[in-house]
Amino acid sequence: MTNEELCTLAVKAMENAYVPYSGYKVGAALLTKSGKIYTGCNIENASYSPTVCAERTAIFKAVSEGEREFLKIAVAGGKNGVITGEFPPCGVCRQVMAEFCIPDFKILVVGGENSFNEYTLSDILPFSFNPEHVK
Ligand code: THU
Repeated sequence: MTNEELCTLAVKAMENAYVPYSGYKVGAALLTKSGKIYTGCNIENASYSPTVCAERTAIFKAVSEGEREFLKIAVAGGKNGVITGEFPPCGVCRQVMAEFCIPDFKILVVGGENSFNEYTLSDILPFSFNPEHVK
């Protein structure tokens, strides 16, 4: 699975986004250490706060299937499904990544039709509060 292929799956996952309130369609594709892929989309709610992001959908799908070791995640998003720039993971999703992923976990953020930038979890969540702090 190349980075480009993972990004393509994230873009594809945008199609299932349930976004009647914001119109922002987001997709994610997560690669596990065991080589499996879990995709996710954002799912909004009339009560707003139950909304779940695409990244957490993908991570929770994987964890609920017994996977806890992850290599990388690709993320793509944009208003009405049109990617006009990078749509980076929100703070809550970064915190969920910190629960399961090492600091070198890779986040591929799609920026356009054929482009992405690569970040690490420690790039986007420095000085994290993580499981080490509650042992
Ligand atoms: N969203 C995600 O799916 N991932 C993020 O990391 C940022 C935000 C979604 C939530 C909401 O449905 C929409 O984007 C606008 O905030």
